[in-house]
Amino acid sequence: MTKLFPNYSRRAVEFVAGEQNYLIDSDGKKYLDFTSGIGVMNLGYNHPQLNQVLEEQASKIWHTPNLYENSLQETLAKQLAGDQDYLAYFCNSGAEANEAAIKLARKTTGKSKIITFEQSFHGRTFGAMSATGQASIHEGFYPLLPEFVYVPYNSLDELKRELDGNTAAVMLELVQGEGGVIPADKDWIQELVALCESNGTLVIVDEVQTGIGRTGTFYASEAYGIEPDIITLAKGLGNGFPVGAMLGKSKYAGAFQPGSHGSTFGGNKLGMAVAGKVTELIRQRDFLNETAKKGAAALSQLKDNLSELPIVVDIRGTGLMIGIELSESQLVGAAIDKLEENGVIVLKAGSSVLRLLPPLTMNETELSEGIEKICQVLEELADV
Ligand SMILES: Cc1ncc(COP(=O)(O)O)c(C=O)c1O
Repeated sequence: MTKLFPNYSRRAVEFVAGEQNYLIDSDGKKYLDFTSGIGVMNLGYNHPQLNQVLEEQASKIWHTPNLYENSLQETLAKQLAGDQDYLAYFCNSGAEANEAAIKLARKTTGKSKIITFEQSFHGRTFGAMSATGQASIHEGFYPLLPEFVYVPYNSLDELKRELDGNTAAVMLELVQGEGGVIPADKDWIQELVALCESNGTLVIVDEVQTGIGRTGTFYASEAYGIEPDIITLAKGLGNGFPVGAMLGKSKYAGAFQPGSHGSTFGGNKLGMAVAGKVTELIRQRDFLNETAKKGAAALSQLKDNLSELPIVVDIRGTGLMIGIELSESQLVGAAIDKLEENGVIVLKAGSSVLRLLPPLTMNETELSEGIEKICQVLEELADV
């Protein structure tokens, strides 16, 4: 009898070890991983350099409070900003990064309304949940925070109607992840940014899932040619060590004075040491180009094999963030079950999308083998 709250629907498998792009369960069965722990393990499992940096830091010091200097935070903040003018605030999760973003936007603009998008996902804490545009996630938790409104994604009409003198921020994912792997149109994003700029409204890009190389650039916003006012990060940043970050343009520094915001564990030394190494390894042109190339090859292999299948509605994605939309929700569950039996694990997104988020370290042969199995299973399901 479990002593855990039943707030997760858990599969009857426990992974007890991981090796590069594979997971091993308690019976010794090996699985090729197309989940990355939901977009977390971008550098795969048991990475020797990450193990080394964690062990070295663990033998020095784990934690010091944010009452003292922290050179590891300074180093990571510089790495994440690159040549852009961002300051960093560190926390422990995606929801916390989004809470910080909402607070910074409200405080710095003195306005309260936050516009987000239908089927978006920003986390489960009250601010992040209020920003999430999915009624099923709000159910039972009303009242939400006031002044959050949801408008259709990839569309301007309602956005223009809602953008007013009290709008602090527009907050969005550039590829909606949990909502069903839905990429934003580039023209729409450019127009949205221009509208916000002329309205004195901040643009918050939630890169919790799309960031840290997932879509083939370090930040998805690079490929859209935009520099958001605020970027939020978590998931892949610590490759399994819990770390989140909010990056904001330095001109907003005045809004976060001592006492405005904080976290006991945020920016702790273990997380900073690991995230620094993760960022160093991923933020390299060759690694990112390779990710984009592998993603394009995976997408075309899927399209070549599945486009004609009657149960496949759409195949889309950027980099190694790929969605296969199926005609019925139950088909996704059936595909996940069959693939797990065959030693490949995949994810669901939205109501009927099979989501693939392999580690960025997965090589072309492994990707191709996994995709072959995915195609086989979907062909079998189409025949039933
Ligand atoms: C885009 C996005 N934002 C925020 C979150 C919440 O992150 P966390 O679960 O670390 O709080 C997620 C998690 O799936 C996400 O995909």
